Amino acid sequence: MPIDPARAQLIQRLPKVELHLHIEGSLEPEMMFSLAGKHGIALPYASVEAVRAAYNFHDLQSFLDLYYAGCAVLRDRQDFYALAMAYFTRAHADNVVHAELFFDPQTHTARGIPMEVVFSGLRDAMDDAHRRYGITSELILCFLRHLSEEDAFATLEAAMPFRSDFIGVGLDSGERGNPPAKFARVFAKARSLGLRLVAHAGEEGPAAYIVDALDVLAVERIDHGVRCDEDPALVARLVRDRIPLTVCPLSNLKLCVVKDLRQHNFARLLRQGVAVTINSDDPAYFGGYIGENYRAIAEALDLSAAELTLVAENAARAAFMPATAKAGLLTKIRTVATR
Ligand code: ADE
Ligand code: ZN
Repeated sequence: MPIDPARAQLIQRLPKVELHLHIEGSLEPEMMFSLAGKHGIALPYASVEAVRAAYNFHDLQSFLDLYYAGCAVLRDRQDFYALAMAYFTRAHADNVVHAELFFDPQTHTARGIPMEVVFSGLRDAMDDAHRRYGITSELILCFLRHLSEEDAFATLEAAMPFRSDFIGVGLDSGERGNPPAKFARVFAKARSLGLRLVAHAGEEGPAAYIVDALDVLAVERIDHGVRCDEDPALVARLVRDRIPLTVCPLSNLKLCVVKDLRQHNFARLLRQGVAVTINSDDPAYFGGYIGENYRAIAEALDLSAAELTLVAENAARAAFMPATAKAGLLTKIRTVATR
């Protein structure tokens, strides 16, 4: 049953924090075509519609293959600016007030794109988004887990001249067979540099990867984490230690992590006291930005107004924001919820 107008309006009005968004995953087919034209890159698709038609995934890897191929059109500072600015404009329409953006530098440096181009283009957009929309944002540098830890170390080293431009590091790409422990030393190094730590775990990989991300990598948030309920002791720990999960409902559906959103464990985790949040992951590929993710999961699981408000509060609490800004945001959320 579609959600009622009151909850739809609440979803729109709630000030939102997005904590799980791969900026490369916000590359819409229209921009893919225009950048391909600009750089004289041939795409294996005849049209924008053909690109969208190809977005039929059966698992994470089938998506990643297209996602990395799509990145080939991102070449100069203006491309990264345009990509991120388009995201911020869309996010602003959904009332996102703070966003922590993942980016995959290895995907770009491996193609010969200098680290400086990636950072400067994204930074330009973040500055503009703040000026134009009042959106605050941070960057989280993700290591690709299908590559070696040595490669991750080299990437961290290459990013050091831009240390003030990113707040933390994360771990993404193909999860199966690439356990968190593979990156123990590089995460320890990042931690010693004062970087915040997050990691994808328990998306396709087992609950044990979530435990290892917490114990071995010492991450502060788990990206996805939906397979945590295979381990009741882990769920109890997530509740007790208030470890946030950045859940991405439409991503889980498109990548066949769940067959149907009505079978998603989001509401069950929320009602058990896990600090779950709603995010869009790779919205250009999965058919919806953060607002659509809120609406889809609210409808599938019949989340109440109080539960939707709690989800928005969970995201604000989980953000790597200064304490005063966070307190102000939590007050705004309460104001919207009680009006
Ligand atoms: N890179 C981009 N999106 C991802 C996801 N959902 N899981 C792992 N790596 C990713
Ligand atoms: Zn992700």
